[in-house]
Amino acid sequence: MNIVDIINKKRVGEELTKEELEFAFNGYLEGIIKDYQMSALLMAICIEDMTKEEIFSLVDIFIKSGEVLDLSALPGVKVDKHSTGGIGDKITLIVGPIVASCGVIVPKMSGRGLGYTGGTIDKLESIKGFKTSLSTNEFIKSLKEVGLAITGQTSNLCPLDKVIYALRDVTGTTASIPLIATSIMSKKIAGGADKILIDIKCGNGALINTTPDAMRLKKIMEEIGEYYGKTTICEISDMNIPLGSNIGNSLEVIEAMDVLKGKQGKLTDLAIKISSEMISVAKDISFDDARCEVLKVLENESAYNKFLEFVKNQGGDINSLKVSDIKEEIKSIRSGEVKAINALNIGKLSCSLGAGRINKEDKIDYEVGIVLNKLVGDRVEYGDTLFTLYKNNNKEITLNVEDYYEIN
Ligand code: URA
Repeated sequence: MNIVDIINKKRVGEELTKEELEFAFNGYLEGIIKDYQMSALLMAICIEDMTKEEIFSLVDIFIKSGEVLDLSALPGVKVDKHSTGGIGDKITLIVGPIVASCGVIVPKMSGRGLGYTGGTIDKLESIKGFKTSLSTNEFIKSLKEVGLAITGQTSNLCPLDKVIYALRDVTGTTASIPLIATSIMSKKIAGGADKILIDIKCGNGALINTTPDAMRLKKIMEEIGEYYGKTTICEISDMNIPLGSNIGNSLEVIEAMDVLKGKQGKLTDLAIKISSEMISVAKDISFDDARCEVLKVLENESAYNKFLEFVKNQGGDINSLKVSDIKEEIKSIRSGEVKAINALNIGKLSCSLGAGRINKEDKIDYEVGIVLNKLVGDRVEYGDTLFTLYKNNNKEITLNVEDYYEIN
């Protein structure tokens, strides 16, 4: 077999066999297939798409690249949650501790930032000492002791997703339904949860921009879940506006903690909804009963304390969280009401400040990002601060405010 023939076959829109996919993807993991060849194949997949058979083959190859955890020795139904990624989406950091403090074990495999969307692993690494690469034993021990553990892909768990994910991030090959479905579902199945809840973000600030695409992704992921005997529930939620106020790694951890300590708003509402769904499927109780449990652990701060316990357990020093003290306030050039905030442009701006990667080797700056001082629906006067940039240098940023905020 020859990788160039495989790339060409996909380039002209033909279906690849499982053997060809194994040759290309396992070969890449082994270092036989080069970055430039895999990049070409990924781009051909993005453009030419994949059949259902190809997607199922690829999921199987990804899962088998590492081990599949057996969590049956842990009590109760284990539930995992995953987002397809959006701007300011720090929901996992809120939902994980809420659900775990309601007594449901949350085994979670997450990823780094992808495209302009941030990733849970990068966010957690903004906490000094936080270990995002857990061995199988450490993962299971944390689940037993804390009820919540978050790990990235490792050389044991979905190693193929680890390397392909990093390559997709910097080659413009993130927005592909087959590649997203494979990446997410292989991680979820390898992670060992019994039930999986997926928040499909749809809009200009997400990898998926249209409702028909979101519906197709939902159908494929639910079918993959069913095939592997995992109840998979996919919800579609809006990502045309950033989620919450903070975008950037440390800033998002701080906002997640604020929500766990009682901050209200759309981010909190979505976190309560997703947590309630997870608890409802795990405990087989009604959504309303699950919601009561969620509100209780938020109110009595046991969810917040669970977050602190989880951070400490994975070696993190929460007091190390830091945001840059170089700030620039962006002011409104008109009065009126905030009608929209462009998630994609905010995500691009945050990346350009250093919160995301352009090259594989890039180091993220955890302290930079954006705080939205005005949210959709807020009244704004001329000269009010709309958003604040947290930067790592004093260079003034030239931007057109109207690319970010629609006010009238
Ligand atoms: N999250 C993942 O883990 N993979 C993707 O491809 C997109 C979001």
